[in-house]
Amino acid sequence: MTINDIKHPKVKAWVEEIAKMCQPKDVYVCDGSQEEYSRLMKEMVDSGLGIPLTKRPNSVLFRSDPSDVARVENRTYIASRKKEDAGPTNNWIDPDELKKTMSGLYTGCMKGRTMYVIPYSMGPVGSDIAKIGIELTDSAYVVCNMDIMTRVGTKVLEALGTNGEFVPCLHSVGKPLEAGETDGGKWPCAPLDKKYISHFPEERTIWSYGSGYGGNALLGKKCFALRIASVLARDEGWLAEHMLILKLTNPEGQVKYVTGAFPSACGKTNLAMLIPTIPGWKVETVGDDIAWMKFGKDGRLYAINPEAGFFGVAPGTSDSSNKNAMDTITKNTIFTNCALTKDGDIWWEGIGYDAPGEVVDWHGNPWTQDKGNKEQPPAAHPNARFTTPAKQCPSIASEWEDPRGVPIDAFLFGGRRPSTIPLVHQSRSWNHGVFLGSIVGSEITAAALDLKAGTIRRDPFAMLPFCGYNMGDYFQHWINIGKKTTAEKLPKIFYVNWFRKDADGKFIWPGYGENSRVLAWIFDRCDNRDNAVETAIGFMPKDGAINTNGLNVTAEAMKGILSVDTEGWKREIADIRENHYPKFGDKLPAELKAELDGLEKRLNG
Ligand code: GTP
Ligand code: SPV
Ligand code: MN
Repeated sequence: MTINDIKHPKVKAWVEEIAKMCQPKDVYVCDGSQEEYSRLMKEMVDSGLGIPLTKRPNSVLFRSDPSDVARVENRTYIASRKKEDAGPTNNWIDPDELKKTMSGLYTGCMKGRTMYVIPYSMGPVGSDIAKIGIELTDSAYVVCNMDIMTRVGTKVLEALGTNGEFVPCLHSVGKPLEAGETDGGKWPCAPLDKKYISHFPEERTIWSYGSGYGGNALLGKKCFALRIASVLARDEGWLAEHMLILKLTNPEGQVKYVTGAFPSACGKTNLAMLIPTIPGWKVETVGDDIAWMKFGKDGRLYAINPEAGFFGVAPGTSDSSNKNAMDTITKNTIFTNCALTKDGDIWWEGIGYDAPGEVVDWHGNPWTQDKGNKEQPPAAHPNARFTTPAKQCPSIASEWEDPRGVPIDAFLFGGRRPSTIPLVHQSRSWNHGVFLGSIVGSEITAAALDLKAGTIRRDPFAMLPFCGYNMGDYFQHWINIGKKTTAEKLPKIFYVNWFRKDADGKFIWPGYGENSRVLAWIFDRCDNRDNAVETAIGFMPKDGAINTNGLNVTAEAMKGILSVDTEGWKREIADIRENHYPKFGDKLPAELKAELDGLEKRLNG
């Protein structure tokens, strides 16, 4: 389609204005068809950028530039009018100044490339909860990824009509081509200090420049569905969260829906697709990364997954850790920064079998596994990812596209905490649960480029890099949500930690499918079953309330991860008091300060 096929005058004028600035060689409007996807993919394969995988039908491997392998948090901006509205946890630049700088970069930035217009819907097209975005990009790789991750094309333009609302999303890889120049099969992007992932919350606009990777470039995901949507949610009284959504069925056939907020690369995809190890239980997948939740007429919170695909961490994914993911990615999948085997398949660390002879690593160099060498650089980048359609997932829940969403019974918070935080505990109340969300901390992972993996940082609600406004106001929004309905209609709140380590640095809890044992306890808590004891930090499993049949963890180790580490919690409180909460100044809700004081008192008492 061409620009003349756009019947929405505002969209058309905006596309024309951007084309004038970016100066692409042509403009192409995506229809979202299979034919279009195949054509763009073939162009990328022919140019040497994509490598078709003989072992997986309709699947292609890409290798990014080594400088462009993950989100760039220190180049991500919330450019609100007032600095205070971006808050203490976001980078801020005055919006006029940022637009000026970026307009300079955007001028002529698409020379020699096609500008693709991607009309897309977050959520099922036409549903009341869904929202529409239009991404302009000079990357065919982005188009194909958006085709999988969102609902793209003609049907979205139709739903938009002539005056529907949309979020304008501008993206460029920031690598104009001279006359006759090509990428020569190399991943185009701009150097780090030219990358900008910018959000203008008052205008509900996104400008991204210089990166082609993941959340930096697939603007429906973190930029729209979290940073911009969190602002909409605050204004309109709903929640846009970095949460998986799962459907949990007990042996009696009763169903509960659970969401979980864990920081990047801390286990959302894995939990969403979990295969229970305890008999009779079933987990099905509604979403693996983002939840939009609104109150229904019955006063309960209903969640939809605004996405249509999974952009999942590849390393560590295997038949034993996540069989459902492995079965999802057998076809129609884009792989980025995985290793390539001689017989045309992908490979990564933790895939469940040794690398078959010499492979090609994510840099494109020959690589042979040397298990004796602990220092050997990995063949797949630690943030290598697969992009795959949700509908291919064997555990996808039948209601995953229900426009009404699913009613949520429990919220989980979690992160990678080698000590202190027990395997599971339940909050005493809504506000105590909001307190738990506000203090979430985690060891840093490879999902962000500019951070030192391994050290612990606070990542409230797993939203630190994704909240589009002042985090103190966000805490208040959560407190306010708790006042909109009755306590029994609100989801119960739990804090889980699969990542406790022993003195040798080994995980104590086996995790993955075994997490179903914890989900079962949570399920019964939602029915107020008599399976908990009250402690200083909240409700914890009664002795024997977590099923340990067939589990390979000693009783002593279980006790260790299911008891209150009073000294550890006191250090935690001191850190929150001295380093974490002061950041929010007078934006910190009094309710959270009171929860901190209450916890300290109970621990001392
Ligand atoms: P994003 O897509 O970045 O938001 O990540 P995510 O939260 O979906 O994380 P994901 O499920 O992809 O897991 C990331 C890494 O954590 C993988 O290497 C997993 O193997 C590992 N992991 C997931 N669940 C568990 C668990 O229960 N125990 C342990 N030890 N590791 C886990
Ligand atoms: C995350 O980092 O939380 C992701 C990957 O889900 S990205 O889409 O790159 O943000
Ligand atoms: Mn994520």
